Amino acid sequence: MDSYGIFFLVLFALGGVHLSKQEVCEPGYVTNLTLNQDYTLSWETPPDETCEIQSYIVFITTLNGTLQYALPTMRPAIQFHTLPECTSYIFRVHQVSTDNVQGLGWSVQLVTPPTSDANLQLQYVRISQTETHARLEWSLEEEWASCASRYRVVIIDEDTNDATDIYTQATFVNLNSVVPCGRYTVGVVALFTLVEQGPIFTIQHTSLGRVTNVPQVTDLQIGSTSATITVELEEYSRNRCALSNLIFDASPSFNLTYTIQNQANRVLPVTITNLVPNTLYYLRISAVNTAGSSNPFLLAIQTRES
Ligand SMILES: *[C@@H]1O[C@H](CO)[C@@H](O)[C@H](O)[C@H]1NC(C)=O
Ligand SMILES: *[C@@H]1O[C@H](CO)[C@@H](O)[C@H](O)[C@H]1NC(C)=O
Ligand SMILES: *[C@@H]1O[C@H](CO)[C@@H](O)[C@H](O)[C@H]1NC(C)=O
Repeated sequence: MDSYGIFFLVLFALGGVHLSKQEVCEPGYVTNLTLNQDYTLSWETPPDETCEIQSYIVFITTLNGTLQYALPTMRPAIQFHTLPECTSYIFRVHQVSTDNVQGLGWSVQLVTPPTSDANLQLQYVRISQTETHARLEWSLEEEWASCASRYRVVIIDEDTNDATDIYTQATFVNLNSVVPCGRYTVGVVALFTLVEQGPIFTIQHTSLGRVTNVPQVTDLQIGSTSATITVELEEYSRNRCALSNLIFDASPSFNLTYTIQNQANRVLPVTITNLVPNTLYYLRISAVNTAGSSNPFLLAIQTRES
């Protein structure tokens, strides 16, 4: 009888040593901490975890570090539908071993989803433009502004069909590359959490006109009674305002107006006839578009003797 008792005591003592060794097993980090589409936060115990994990604990703090909730959970996931909407929190997940030792936490910052009755439609999208600057701006209702994590802006150039795609956290974009009289379609969408987005808000915009740059004379052929002057106008890709006239003003001798029909062709040879031989003419060459008349190119020509 006595010998049996000692035998069991020894076994128990061995077991005790074994248990106390397990107590120092501190779990490592969780992996794959992920926000899922249904607003659950999930994570996993890595395969190389040496401790046996019995549960997890999730600490939810505000961005200034104030602890709001401590949620123990057996499953490697929590739902956070019940938290106030559109608020930034830090979720920190710790593993807890079977011996009740809490490991180090892994954290992620998240914005909680908007409620189902939230108005996620943009209130407006507009472009304000001065001669030198264009700015696109938009707004959500103030109550829901904090819900949007980012905005997506798509700008389509209607003349070339080029599309520009911009993601931003700001509520404006500077439009540095709009072309005078260019036609654009602009769409803005607010993006919420991972998958949800508000309705698209689309506007059409034609940018302000601008007179063309001073025409350039690139070739000149002068006879005794005629002159062929090749004029190069500002590229169509830099100014899409429709051109109407090219003026060769040599007042008081003559003042000629040519109609421009092909908007894409910007190199125009023009022949002026009925000039007087051996005469000096001062020309002011300007181009007229929907925004008005350009500054003139000043040219002096001397016709040949006959
Ligand atoms: C984490 O996710 C990746 C990709 O989904 C998967 O391949 C990997 O097995 C996951 N890790 C664990 C520990 O489950
Ligand atoms: C931290 O932020 C919460 C709201 O986000 C606020 O209620 C609390 O007073 C703040 N605490 C400190 C210490 O600033
Ligand atoms: C020459 O003609 C143009 C176009 O009709 C006109 O705008 C301009 O004033 C004229 N120049 C002079 C000096 O009259």
